[in-house]
Amino acid sequence: MFDLKKYLIEKQKTVNRALENIIRQESPLEQRIVSAMRHSLMAGGKRLRPVLCLSVAEIVGGNEDQVLDAACSLEMIHTYSLIHDDLPAMDDDDMRRGKQTCHIAFDEATAILAGDALLTMAFELLSKTNNLISPDYAFKKLDVIRKIASAAGYTGMIAGQMTDILSEGENLDMEELKILHIAKTGVLIEASVYAGAVLGDGTPDEIKMLTEYGRYIGLAFQVADDILNVEGDPEIMGKAVGTDRTRNKSTYPSLMGVQKSKQFAEKLVADSLNALEMFDKKAEPLRAIARYIIERKK
Ligand code: IPE
Ligand code: IPE
Ligand code: MG
Ligand code: MG
Repeated sequence: MFDLKKYLIEKQKTVNRALENIIRQESPLEQRIVSAMRHSLMAGGKRLRPVLCLSVAEIVGGNEDQVLDAACSLEMIHTYSLIHDDLPAMDDDDMRRGKQTCHIAFDEATAILAGDALLTMAFELLSKTNNLISPDYAFKKLDVIRKIASAAGYTGMIAGQMTDILSEGENLDMEELKILHIAKTGVLIEASVYAGAVLGDGTPDEIKMLTEYGRYIGLAFQVADDILNVEGDPEIMGKAVGTDRTRNKSTYPSLMGVQKSKQFAEKLVADSLNALEMFDKKAEPLRAIARYIIERKK
């Protein structure tokens, strides 16, 4: 039996070690900003996006060295998005990852800058090369940079966040909600899978099917986040619950109720598993991660 818990802990360790090495304070000038970046980055997230990137690379026969920088950059972009998402002008949250949010622990200006710094640092890291890199691999890296930039940018996550804010107090229909959730959360998860598949040297067919898997679990992840905001335990989650309702957000539970939302999430996971049909037992981690995404308690 595949042991997902053990697998996740191992992969999270790899990611945490790599992040520790990357984010170092080089001079006293950076002291406050690096402390703020570290406060949020090293607070202990699930590391789902980098783990997916590493797992997918492994499944297509790639190795860790090919994708570890990309994996870390995905976590930096994700963490930046959380810091900004929690700001008073956005969701105005005080707790994240079991700690005070960045603007509470520091101040708003520092939190904005820490987010900016993590986002830009991610692309610095993504574009790092050395003399040994082949032109073929350099092109793959460029393609991955484009994909991640577009996922994080104004047609992806930012579009989702903008719509999320604008839709407070509005009634979105199901199609609009789906577009919002895919944009704010789904596309970065899809890009994480894509990065692993491309940098791990997957074949075009493998990349295509894995990306489809990523698309389904990306949406499922946000549906689960919505459900957890209704019935999750804030102690376990390390962040507040019930806030979507207080802020009149459009969510799956608010539009279709918790039960139907769970069924919808199940359906998305089933679709994601179908996308993995061409892969044998090797893809067991991805199947387990898909189920974990909707069964998780945090
Ligand atoms: C929470 O993301 C915010 C969303 C994009 C839904 P995660 O649930 O992955 O948060 P961490 O990284 O584990 O803290
Ligand atoms: C977060 O969505 C999405 C991004 C940060 C891009 P939510 O606002 O729904 O996530 P939580 O519940 O604060 O983690
Ligand atoms: Mg939000
Ligand atoms: Mg939020």
